Amino acid sequence: MIKFKKKNLSGSSKRWIQRHYNDDLVNKAKKLGYRSRAIFKLEEINNKLSFLNKNKNIIDLGAAPGSWSQYLSKQGFKNLLAIDILEINKLPNVKFILGDFTNEDIKKKILQEFEEIDIILSDIASNTTGNKKLDSFKTNSICLDVLDFASNNLVNSGYVLAKYFNGELDKEIIEFSRKYFRKNKIIKPRSSRKDSKEMYVFAQK
Ligand SMILES: C[S@@+](CC[C@H](N)C(=O)[O-])C[C@H]1O[C@@H](n2cnc3c(N)ncnc32)[C@H](O)[C@@H]1O
Repeated sequence: MIKFKKKNLSGSSKRWIQRHYNDDLVNKAKKLGYRSRAIFKLEEINNKLSFLNKNKNIIDLGAAPGSWSQYLSKQGFKNLLAIDILEINKLPNVKFILGDFTNEDIKKKILQEFEEIDIILSDIASNTTGNKKLDSFKTNSICLDVLDFASNNLVNSGYVLAKYFNGELDKEIIEFSRKYFRKNKIIKPRSSRKDSKEMYVFAQK
């Protein structure tokens, strides 16, 4: 058990740090050498849906610090492209584009990397502001942008998995997914914090 100095920390900061360090998955990720506990969400979803395939071209949006790409790279996936507004440390078989996915120039760069896109993963979450409505609005607008990009650029039968938050625009995300994709699923992985409004939409073109 890690103990924290009580000085200079607000009660909520202390609770957050305590919860974070006491979280088994954080410790498990560290033990296994993964960059983030987020790895377990992707692993869990794929264990259920078996949609990841080593021969496919995969895009990992909002990749930093990189545990999803790291997991795929370790499993022997070779055609991986990661994108984030933050740098990630290099990974074998992972190309990286530094930039904002919502920027049209970045989208063009992504499209130049692969002739065909088979799978789009997005774990993008905007920086939080403390205003829950605004936070879900910002992340969910990007999620809609990801779904739109996926509907236009995925190969037929390609898959998209994208994070969103219960809150503003969540109904629009579900409607969009139902309208333009099939095999729609809304997933709350067990490895996602229970008190978080985080969800994933999964769909096939
Ligand atoms: C929850 S983290 C992703 C964790 C990652 N899946 C992993 O396994 O390490 C969310 C990421 O979304 C990125 N992000 C937020 N807005 C973005 C945008 N517009 N374009 C690209 N990345 C963005 C953040 O910088 C952050 O690294």
